[in-house]
Amino acid sequence: MKTVSRFERFEAGDTVTVHWDGAPLDLPEGANLAAALLAAGIDRFRDTPVSGAPRGPFCMMGACFDCLVEIEGVARQACMIEVRAGLDIRPAHQSREGQDAL
Ligand code: FES
Repeated sequence: MKTVSRFERFEAGDTVTVHWDGAPLDLPEGANLAAALLAAGIDRFRDTPVSGAPRGPFCMMGACFDCLVEIEGVARQACMIEVRAGLDIRPAHQSREGQDAL
C-alpha cells in the first residue's frame, strides 16, 4: 500500500498542465519529467510487453529504459525529457489486456 511519495516536493514555482493517461496533471515547468511524475505519486510508467510486469524509473540517466512513456505517440525516456505545457503522456507497453503495445 502506497501512502506518500518517496521523493521530496519540488520548490514552489510555475506549474503547467500535462495529461497523464488522459487525466490532467499539474507539474513543475522545466522539471525532469520522470522526477516530476514520481513526485506526483506516479511510479508505474509502463508494463513489460510479455508478462505485464510494472516498471518505473530506475537509473534516472537514460540507461535502463524502465521510464519509457509514450509522448504524443512516440516512446520516450521520461528521465530525458523536461516538463512543458500540453504534453500528452501515456504509459508505454500496455499489457496484453491493455491498449496497443509500442
Ligand atoms: S530511468 Fe533509466 S532510462 Fe530513464
